[in-house]
Amino acid sequence: MYALAEARANIALVKYWGKSDLARNLPAVPSLSLTVDALTTRTSVHFDPARNADAVWIDRKPADPRAQERVSRHLDRVLPGRMFAEVRSSNDFPTAAGLASSASAFAALTLAASAAAGAAHDGTKLSILARQASGSAARSIFGGLVLLGVGTPGQTDSSFATPIASERDWPDLRLVIGIGIEGPKEIGSTDGMTRSEASPYYASWTASAPAEIPRAVEAIERRDLAALGAVAERSALRMHACAMASDPGVVYLRGPTVEGLHVIQKLRTRGFHAWFTCDAGPHPKALTTPADAEYVARALAEVPGIRRTIIAAPGAGALLLDGQR
Ligand code: PMV
Repeated sequence: MYALAEARANIALVKYWGKSDLARNLPAVPSLSLTVDALTTRTSVHFDPARNADAVWIDRKPADPRAQERVSRHLDRVLPGRMFAEVRSSNDFPTAAGLASSASAFAALTLAASAAAGAAHDGTKLSILARQASGSAARSIFGGLVLLGVGTPGQTDSSFATPIASERDWPDLRLVIGIGIEGPKEIGSTDGMTRSEASPYYASWTASAPAEIPRAVEAIERRDLAALGAVAERSALRMHACAMASDPGVVYLRGPTVEGLHVIQKLRTRGFHAWFTCDAGPHPKALTTPADAEYVARALAEVPGIRRTIIAAPGAGALLLDGQR
């Protein structure tokens, strides 16, 4: 009743923002992301009849009660009527930096817990399970470019991720992550999404977002970085505009983030390949090529307040390292 799995973070190029069914965690809009080869979480799950409570360790420290509760609830989902478990999870990046850690964490936990439970779930089933803990985690089950569909409100199994192109299909993609102000985010994504429903732009956000998916898929089929980059910038700006216009407004962008976005757009006027995106946090990210990645990273690192950069390539989906499927 033991398994060890790893999963990587993903960055959405077409953003998921808003829920159509909060209880089942169904997204209001479809999204499309790139699983990256950086930002990896490794998680072991050991269901143990000798235990009388769950024990959850994150980066070798006992998890705080909220994280512990979220993990326990997810184990209940994966194996209803289960025995207690010891869960050990560690990230190869600082959890407190506010980087996307829930995607890699819940994808790795879903695979490790399923394998420890002896369930041979396919990617679709794993994705449905992971989605219920964190929408973006549904996408980290798969590598490369991944689509998450909206599903139907009321139907838990209706929304799951599907791979559009594997990490080997378009190896010449790079994502530069500029790490701005570190620390856990002040407004969690579920909270930000719920608050965004009060935005007068929410209806136009949910109405206009789905059309970006066929544009992104076509750009991926053509390996057209400029077209994919244009979709990514539009989607990120519209998501933030919707959130900022709610009442009270939800503002994730910080000074260095906005400056980072300007730098990325400016690089383009100078002939570099660089298009930005930004999630529910302060870190600007640039979609670029292997040839331009170093330069883009250096330009971002020069922005006051950007502490460091990570250059990521397309990464693999969740992998079982120990245990059986
Ligand atoms: O599923 P969550 O709670 O990690 O929300 C993800 C929200 C964004 O990162 C802002 C967008 C996305 O599609 O990943």
